[in-house]
Amino acid sequence: MTKIFLPDIEATQQLGITLGETLNAGSVILLEGDLGAGKTTLVQGIGKGLGIIDSIVSPTFTLINEYTEGRIPLYHLDLYRLEPQEVTGLNLESYWEGIEVTPGIVAIEWAERMPYLPDSYLKVCLKYGENGDRQAEIITVNCELY
Ligand SMILES: Nc1ncnc2c1ncn2[C@@H]1O[C@H](COP(=O)(O)OP(=O)(O)OP(=O)(O)O)[C@@H](O)[C@H]1O
Ligand SMILES: [Mg+2]
Repeated sequence: MTKIFLPDIEATQQLGITLGETLNAGSVILLEGDLGAGKTTLVQGIGKGLGIIDSIVSPTFTLINEYTEGRIPLYHLDLYRLEPQEVTGLNLESYWEGIEVTPGIVAIEWAERMPYLPDSYLKVCLKYGENGDRQAEIITVNCELY
């Protein structure tokens, strides 16, 4: 596990930018952490790193937002409003398997709600620090972080 100290919002954005610049198509990022921990902020950085100019807004109500103008597509999901059995019906695997969908980066907020996981993924847990800062704990499963 890699721990990264994120003193401010810019640090969280910069971590996202690095991920957006380096991750391959087919990468899945599972984002966990309390309300306001910085999940959407991190995805906004990923969008920047991919060269996406559209502003990235939280898909809490739309469930998924797709951005196709960057280096590779970004699929941004938010499962906050769903129960695990509702997530099952969404066929999320079509995003990471690239079935009928151009492979890209799949970033999933509230990934705790997922009843099943891809074979390989990056898990980023965002935690509150004591002084308004954040800490990211990154775990890779069957993939590498450069
Ligand atoms: N180091 C930090 N990283 C990210 N956000 C920070 C940091 N410090 C303070 N913040 C603030 O915390 C908030 C994070 O909001 P954000 O929408 O990214 O969280 P979230 O995890 O997506 O929340 P939700 O669970 O509602 O989807 C922002 O208002 C931001 O300004
Ligand atoms: Mg969010």
